Amino acid sequence: MKVLLISENNHILEVAISFKSLKQRGVLLETYKSNLVNASQKIAKEIPDVVLVDIQSSSTHEFDLIERYKTQYKNMAFMMLSGDSSSELLLSAMRSGFSEVISLPLTEQSFVIALDRFENKFRKNIKHQSKVLSVISCKGGAGATFISTNLGFILAEIFNKKVLLIDANQYFGDASLYLSDTNPPMTLADVCNQIHRLDYAFLESSLIEVTHRYKILAAADNPASISDVRPEHLDTIIRIAKNYYDFIIIDLGRQIDALTVKAMDLSDEVYPVVQLTLPYIRDAKHLLDMFKSLGYNQNKIKLTINRYEKNNKLKLEDLHHTLATSHSFIIPNEYNVVSESVNQGVAVARQAPNGAVTKALKEMGEKITGIKLSEKGFFTKIFNKG
Ligand SMILES: Nc1ncnc2c1ncn2[C@@H]1O[C@H](COP(=O)(O)OP(=O)(O)OP(=O)(O)O)[C@@H](O)[C@H]1O
Ligand SMILES: [Mg+2]
Repeated sequence: MKVLLISENNHILEVAISFKSLKQRGVLLETYKSNLVNASQKIAKEIPDVVLVDIQSSSTHEFDLIERYKTQYKNMAFMMLSGDSSSELLLSAMRSGFSEVISLPLTEQSFVIALDRFENKFRKNIKHQSKVLSVISCKGGAGATFISTNLGFILAEIFNKKVLLIDANQYFGDASLYLSDTNPPMTLADVCNQIHRLDYAFLESSLIEVTHRYKILAAADNPASISDVRPEHLDTIIRIAKNYYDFIIIDLGRQIDALTVKAMDLSDEVYPVVQLTLPYIRDAKHLLDMFKSLGYNQNKIKLTINRYEKNNKLKLEDLHHTLATSHSFIIPNEYNVVSESVNQGVAVARQAPNGAVTKALKEMGEKITGIKLSEKGFFTKIFNKG
């Protein structure tokens, strides 16, 4: 859980930093020496789960601000730190959207009790919302990595969701390169090697930050460490991540083994990626048969056609006929745009916000989230930020 403490008082900030039990509880504490009025950019940048703000003299202006933040950041909790415990102040604070008021002086016990109360509520809310999606290539090069990484970006930056991408591709893990040139602080294998230490703070410290809402756990970087990644580890990582992320996307590549099957078992939806050529369709048939033998419900499988062109020799009907099922999503072929995005390590939605692939991924995002994007305004606003 990420907590942002805003106060103009150095002593309060120092006291909070000295609370030893926070880290053990998986609380990542950020402090910001400022007041609520000047903290809007910091809040937008950090997207904490909890904002604890020290309000010395309550003014209606600050309460109005909280009301605004509450509509803007639906999953964020606001707590107030105050020396004034009069019932009028408490009432106004609760009315404006503060979920807790902690009395000064700030003690470790009162802080932890308030956070526990929030976490119990938060976990209940988030658990049923968060979704695990696995993306798997029917055959190498189908586009699983391109689609998983870029779908993640769209869900985070256009649909405002917190997204974690896990690169579980065991021999060809390259997902982070599709979006970033940063070296991963840790890989999936490193995390699995220290699985007994895993909590939210440890997980966060191992991720590449693509944006504030979008993080990547990079693949094991050498074949020797692949055996360190065991199915039960993935289970633990996903269980912890589910409490904090709206979407966990797993890039599975093309390999089928105990780890991939575990990932798919844990997934709400599985996206097999296919192209409209015979070798891909043949392998897709094997994969779909395997899903049947694993007992996966048809609703769980979202067949995704990549690099689609209207003048393909094989038609959609051919695919439907051979696979005895219909597709869920189509991503068009857009060679130049996608090559440019992949080569530069920049999300396609940034590279070509109005391109056909971006449009198709946005439609995918709409179906997945159930959120219909309002026309232009929202989209333009996000991408003009640079
Ligand atoms: N919609 C698309 N339009 C044009 N080119 C695409 C599209 N999708 C993917 N590509 C190209 O295909 C290449 C392979 O895609 P990607 O790496 O996502 O495949 P993969 O299924 O992850 O492969 P692997 O099995 O090796 O992990 C990309 O580098 C990209 O250049
Ligand atoms: Mg790949």
